[in-house]
Amino acid sequence: MKSAQQPALRCHYFAIFLIQTLVALVLFGYNHISNNRIINKASIATNCTNSPPLSKNVVVLLWTWPFGTQFSLDKCPKPFDSPRCILTANRSLYNTANAVVLHHRDVCGSKDQMPQVPRPEGQYWVWFNLESPSHSPNLHFMDKLINLTMSFRIDSDIFTPYGWLEQNEVAINYTIPEKSKLVAWIVSNWNPHTRRVQLYEDLKNYIPIDIYGRQHISLATEQTVSVVSKYKFYFSFENSIHTDYITEKLWHNAFASGCVPVVLGPPRENYERLIPSDSFIHVDDFPSAKELASYLLELDKNDQKYQEYFKWRSKLSPVTEFSWIVHYCKACVGLHNAPSYRTASSLGKWFT
Ligand SMILES: *[C@@H]1O[C@H](CO)[C@@H](O)[C@H](O)[C@H]1NC(C)=O
Ligand SMILES: *[C@@H]1O[C@H](CO)[C@@H](O)[C@H](O)[C@H]1NC(C)=O
Ligand SMILES: *[C@@H]1O[C@H](CO)[C@@H](O)[C@H](O)[C@H]1NC(C)=O
Repeated sequence: MKSAQQPALRCHYFAIFLIQTLVALVLFGYNHISNNRIINKASIATNCTNSPPLSKNVVVLLWTWPFGTQFSLDKCPKPFDSPRCILTANRSLYNTANAVVLHHRDVCGSKDQMPQVPRPEGQYWVWFNLESPSHSPNLHFMDKLINLTMSFRIDSDIFTPYGWLEQNEVAINYTIPEKSKLVAWIVSNWNPHTRRVQLYEDLKNYIPIDIYGRQHISLATEQTVSVVSKYKFYFSFENSIHTDYITEKLWHNAFASGCVPVVLGPPRENYERLIPSDSFIHVDDFPSAKELASYLLELDKNDQKYQEYFKWRSKLSPVTEFSWIVHYCKACVGLHNAPSYRTASSLGKWFT
């Protein structure tokens, strides 16, 4: 084993030396190098025998910080780390960047917010958006400019959901947090004309519901999990209904808190593409608010039936922490496998 790895490692160090000298980038710290050795032996070895390693490096430029939020780009967390990914927000690197990530909400205000300089040959423009189509104006700005899409849509070139499930290495015995209350809902935009508020108005006639958020009981973001975990059910009601648009309302507010989510969003089949069928209650499964409420009350009285909604947790764990860096790291990894030419003629026809 040991001797077989040696040439690959030496080659790898040579590759790093080349990269550092030629591109003069100081982004590869020593930590990076030793990490790569452990994780990516196989791909490094292939790299050495095929093409020059330099051509496999991927430089990804964040055209803007998403919503102006800055964070460290030095290191991609596992398993989204890749030895040949360099993330930067320095626009001076535009001409050498393999990809430029355009975060929709930071560039859709006016065409001037897009890069105004000619695009270097072979550079990908990656359209990044986690907002729903209802809150994504001016999609036509992107027509005939974008090469790759990156969003919560499963059929994006780079899929960046709000959360996902990981297989547990061994079955675990998940402990349901202690429950003393019934239903919680956090809502910041209270619009009486929306289906979710109308549904609430109906439901509250049959079942007690505690509402948190602006105009209601105030709740600091850091306290969401500790407060909400005392409830048996959480209303994961999306602000608008679109394919695959399943947000932190499910992943963080309900799953991270150990609540059973009652979901309002795309159809049940859409949820089932991402999470087990017995992990949630869908409002569309019930002909009326009254019947939904009586089902929740029935589960409240029947512990065994309630606990069935946690069975999946022995095999799967939800990853629920939202993290900008992970999304950009996914872009970098995705670009290693991107087709050499690709274009998206009209986002507006697809992102609906
Ligand atoms: C951006 O990159 C240029 C060229 O490599 C460098 O001179 C400059 O100091 C960098 N700016 C920042 C803020 O890191
Ligand atoms: C899981 O934990 C509960 C409560 O501690 C216990 O009753 C049950 O036997 C455990 N199940 C397994 C499979 O370990
Ligand atoms: C990206 O899309 C633009 C616009 O369609 C196109 O001119 C360019 O060749 C594409 N680049 C790649 C690498 O696919």
